[in-house]
Amino acid sequence: MHMRAKTLALAVLAPAFLLPILFLVVGCEKQSSSSSTQPATGSASGGAIKIGHYGSMTGSEATFGVSTDNGIKLAVKERNAAGGVNGKQIQLITYDDQGKGQEAVTAVTRLIQQDGVVAVLGEVASSRSIAAGPVCQREGVPMISPSSTNPQVTEIGDMIFRVCFIDPFQGYVGASFAKNQLKLDKAATLYNRSQAYSAGLNKEFVNAFEKLGGQVLIQQAYADGDNDFSAQLTAIREKNPQFIYIPGYYTEVVNIARQARKLGVTCPLIGGDGWVSEELKNAGDALDGCYFSDHYSQEDKRPEVQDFLKKYKSEYGKTPDSMAALGYDAANLLFDAMKRAKSLNGHDLADAIASTKDFKAVTGNITINEHRDANKLAVIQKIQGGQFSYYATVEPPK
Ligand code: PHE
Repeated sequence: MHMRAKTLALAVLAPAFLLPILFLVVGCEKQSSSSSTQPATGSASGGAIKIGHYGSMTGSEATFGVSTDNGIKLAVKERNAAGGVNGKQIQLITYDDQGKGQEAVTAVTRLIQQDGVVAVLGEVASSRSIAAGPVCQREGVPMISPSSTNPQVTEIGDMIFRVCFIDPFQGYVGASFAKNQLKLDKAATLYNRSQAYSAGLNKEFVNAFEKLGGQVLIQQAYADGDNDFSAQLTAIREKNPQFIYIPGYYTEVVNIARQARKLGVTCPLIGGDGWVSEELKNAGDALDGCYFSDHYSQEDKRPEVQDFLKKYKSEYGKTPDSMAALGYDAANLLFDAMKRAKSLNGHDLADAIASTKDFKAVTGNITINEHRDANKLAVIQKIQGGQFSYYATVEPPK
């Protein structure tokens, strides 16, 4: 493992004064899950190739769905402007699952059975990919998760893929960064027991940290919807850890950070990709000097990154977070596979996705491995003044 610490401190979040700008994207269609139904077609209709996206467009993880959808829409727009795939335009249908597993199942069922999509993109949150993935598997329609990192997601079966790293690696990244880079030996953890991502990443972090010789003094948990963390934080404070590892999602992380500081817990908090959101600014200075692992850095000089930044900024008036980048990558990887596939029939398309090698993406080159996952680097972001910026790169162990 190599860790390259850099001292670059460019802020990567859009300034708060940039107003969100609305764009209409030709060839994209947004429908709510209550809109009227369309006849099942089994594949494309009206000459266009339909693809689906399901995500949390609303709810406490709304930035996950919205960012991902923005990335996908940009990829669709570019592909269509360049002539589509094999001469056909791409039509994107997005459904909001409100951050709920049951809604995710409904959305994916509808995309496949009523809209007749040839492939599904989503979800961000592992629990929702685990809930809805079996529908894609059963129906024989390939699903690519842009950013679900729990190993169980692709274990669902041979129709399920992802374009991001997985949590055994991400847990190791957090552990080795704390132990080897920050020289911290005593950890506490606080995780969400209702989320597969959070509970899984907690376990991976603890394993890796102990293997590296660190000590985990206490592990505390909460559940979806909790917003008072004082009991857990008080128990943690009593153990006097040097840092707290919090593998949760941003809304909870902001609340935990504010409450921790109020209770006099001053140690750094360290987390994973679930922290990625411009909403971290709501923590004020409570997250200053804290770190989390992420999928890519906007300070990466590769042309894939810099071109994407420019295009995304001019389209949406703000900078793309990692979900936007991964959504864009997942869609482009799908189009690449569509061009190579024998047909757009589910199994032919899945074969083409599975044989993806060294695909040049924003978040790094993607080769789909035998588990239908991608081996990628991770970056560490550091938070200051509610904004995060690139701090270090962590490569998979050789
Ligand atoms: N990896 C998280 C999960 O599996 C989701 C996530 C990805 C969140 C990227 C933020 C950024 O649930």
